[in-house]
Amino acid sequence: MSVSKRTRKNILNKFLSVIFAVVLFMVSGCGSSDNEADNNGSAASAADFVTVGFSQLGAESDWRSANSRSMREAFSSDKGYELIFEDGQQKQSKQITAIRSFIQQGVDYIVLAPVTQDGWDSVLQETKEADIPVIIVDRMVDVANDDLFTCWVGSDFYLEGCKACEWLYQYTSDLGMKGEDIHIVNIQGTLGSSAQIGRSAGLNDYVEKYGWDLREETPGDFTQAKGREVMAQMLVTYNNINVVYCENDNEALGAIEAIEAAGLHAGGDIQNGDILVLSFDGVNENAINYCLEGTIACIVECNPLHGPRVENIIKTLEKGGSPDKLEYVSETLYSSYQSVNEVSVDGTTYPVTMLTQEVIDTRAY
Ligand code: AHR
Repeated sequence: MSVSKRTRKNILNKFLSVIFAVVLFMVSGCGSSDNEADNNGSAASAADFVTVGFSQLGAESDWRSANSRSMREAFSSDKGYELIFEDGQQKQSKQITAIRSFIQQGVDYIVLAPVTQDGWDSVLQETKEADIPVIIVDRMVDVANDDLFTCWVGSDFYLEGCKACEWLYQYTSDLGMKGEDIHIVNIQGTLGSSAQIGRSAGLNDYVEKYGWDLREETPGDFTQAKGREVMAQMLVTYNNINVVYCENDNEALGAIEAIEAAGLHAGGDIQNGDILVLSFDGVNENAINYCLEGTIACIVECNPLHGPRVENIIKTLEKGGSPDKLEYVSETLYSSYQSVNEVSVDGTTYPVTMLTQEVIDTRAY
């Protein structure tokens, strides 16, 4: 019968913990039973630590900071984990190096939040050969063989995009506007990331469906500074923009700065010169307050609290169970505009959460 590397490692850990306990017992001079209990207890807990290597893609947005916090809280040493956290600084090469170092360190689990979808096959093949389970979180990987990772948990980014567009369609239809009256620019996220691919695809499908005028799509890298820069340039190039689709809240904050710097107004009165701002996340406090006052018309939630979800997956694996291969997080839409109460995408209806101060105060992040 072949014994996997992982099983061998567990056996070795247990063996080392017994040696450790015996040595402690001898060093303590075969002391009192209280001490024995303490020594045995600490030896057992040292062996029971679960080691998790987490390759986080970067620190580009408030969403990302909340996500990193959630992971650190879920995998604290108090709870019996050793978390090795590596920041990829938006570079896939750094993330690949981190994964290889996790393999060398013999971690129990690898968690990967990938910056882009492509280019993971080789390194995931290495994790498979090392017999280390890999949990993909937030964005997805696009690999030839899905057996290269254990499971994934995150958002349906395409659905998020469709929800935002359906909201826009209903809002503008209610104003009596037609498809050709909608002049949109898209400030995209990091090109090649699942969040960008899904949200841009949602927009493009609705542009085709309703005949909207999509003037330009340019990446804003999910940051406020780039969002401002891109929007400022677009306002110089086009004189009829009435909707800006920002692929996250940090970009939306930058876009609003550019709109105001150009002497224009972000808001819902788009038949009288306002530029309507659509956004994603709902984590940044300024963005959510802008949504409350109507400066941002609608934010489609993207939930960053994946720490407990990944922890549940690891608990399931520890017990020998099989977590779902794909776990989609359910998410809402926020708006303070009363005219759209719900949106329907592919036959499913999603209620819009009407933003009030009370809703803001009771949110988890
Ligand atoms: O992958 C999730 C996206 O990444 C969030 O929408 C964005 O804010 C972040 O940077």
